[in-house]
Amino acid sequence: MTQLPLSLWEAEPILQHLSAVADTLGYPAYIVGGWVRDFFLSGEIGSALDVVTVGNPTLFAETLAQRLGTTIAAEFRRFYVAVVRWQHYEIEIVASRRESYTPESRNPAVEPAPLEEDFLRRDFTINALYVGLHAAERGTILDPFGGIRDLARKLIRTPTDPARTFSDDPLRMLRAIRFAVRLGFEIEPTTYAGIRQEAPRLQIVSPERITEEFHKILLSPDPTRGLRLLFDTGLLEQFLPEVAALAGTEMQQGYAHKDNFAHTLKVIEQLLSERPQASLWLRWAALLHDVGKPRTKRFDEKLGWTFHLHEEVGARLVKDIFKRLHLPLDERLRYVQKLVRLHGRPIALAQEGVTDSAIRRLAAEAGEDLEDLILLCRSDVTTRNPRRRQRFLENFDRVMQRVREVQQKDQLARFQPPIRGEDIMRTYNLQPGALVGAIKEEIRQAILDGIIPNEYNAAFAYMQKVAPYILAGKPVPEELRQNAQNKEGERNEIRTTHE
Ligand code: CTP
Repeated sequence: MTQLPLSLWEAEPILQHLSAVADTLGYPAYIVGGWVRDFFLSGEIGSALDVVTVGNPTLFAETLAQRLGTTIAAEFRRFYVAVVRWQHYEIEIVASRRESYTPESRNPAVEPAPLEEDFLRRDFTINALYVGLHAAERGTILDPFGGIRDLARKLIRTPTDPARTFSDDPLRMLRAIRFAVRLGFEIEPTTYAGIRQEAPRLQIVSPERITEEFHKILLSPDPTRGLRLLFDTGLLEQFLPEVAALAGTEMQQGYAHKDNFAHTLKVIEQLLSERPQASLWLRWAALLHDVGKPRTKRFDEKLGWTFHLHEEVGARLVKDIFKRLHLPLDERLRYVQKLVRLHGRPIALAQEGVTDSAIRRLAAEAGEDLEDLILLCRSDVTTRNPRRRQRFLENFDRVMQRVREVQQKDQLARFQPPIRGEDIMRTYNLQPGALVGAIKEEIRQAILDGIIPNEYNAAFAYMQKVAPYILAGKPVPEELRQNAQNKEGERNEIRTTHE
């Protein structure tokens, strides 16, 4: 029997407190689940502790809270569960129990039961590891199904019949994939077969629970492995049929289109290699960027396969998906829709001769998400032909360069000189009108042309030179502008005379 060293108790006050409570109450208590699993894997002391008591959990929680100088944070008496928070720890205390499921519902009938029955209700062998807290078994590891061996073999395996485990709580099928991806484990073949068999039962799980689990997969460092497993097991079809429908190719007149599911995975992979910390919503955008393709697919005699308007259709599907999965229908939805809608635009703007206004429209529509959009577009280049790839990427650079140029132009167009209309009116005793505007414009142009620096004194001096002409209705002599521009000495003179 494996044993955790008791020195751990000396180092970790939380363990001392839990053990002291178990000893005071005189009934067995164990830490179980993720805390034990992760301790074995990384040696770290986690902050989420699941404690199983063979005795009243509420009493355990009350005694613990009192000892820690706090109160019970939450209680679900019907399920024999109580939660205590202390420092950064969250301790969930549950009674050792039996769970009975009916086929229609995933809410089990719960009743306290001996520990051997608690073993049987655990999802995976690696999550069915118990560390004794009470004096008689302090530090003892109970490993009823060979979980420690499975940790070493890197295996996800159900303790009993997988069909039963997954049918009881179908969310466990997503958990299996989440653990496999997060820990870099394999799913043991019988367990895998159980998932394939029970996949349709995911339908009885609420969208909130599904997305919470799916987000953990999507946010893991290797989400494409998770997506591939979700697809292969038939789970993806249950909650994201639009993405599952991307898989496969079709051949007509000797032309096949690419497998858009494989392509989507590649896009996510490339996106994460450029930006490993990509947000959840950027990951969603990459996942859904081509979701409109199956519905817009046509074979054209001349053009071959086309997916005309798939971006727009995709953006509409994004909303349906967000609604169905109870995802937020706020700016996060709009962000994903925006990227899906615009992801074809930059490449279309990369040709020569595209107008400023087309570039401006893209920049305005993408707004602050332009960088994310371009990252998505770059990741969307999955051709294996290195020259084509290079050309596409350079095209995006060209679009970004054009965007910067147009933005700079626009900034200049909006630029206001340091001399305001009121300054001009006061100096020349003018009423608001065309003359004031003309003087101001003359100064503005002088600054934009680099004739004078963008400073009040220089602008005021320039005004004093040019205004008499404008007020007299005469053209400003060209040499005045030339002088100011070409002779550094003169420019300095302007500055010093008015400082
Ligand atoms: N459990 C289960 N079936 C579920 C959820 C949980 O059998 N659908 C059991 C497992 O034994 C699990 C324990 O309850 O280890 C605690 O569950 P939870 O805190 O949700 O997950 P952890 O395994 O602790 O993992 P993590 O904290 O990484 O989510």
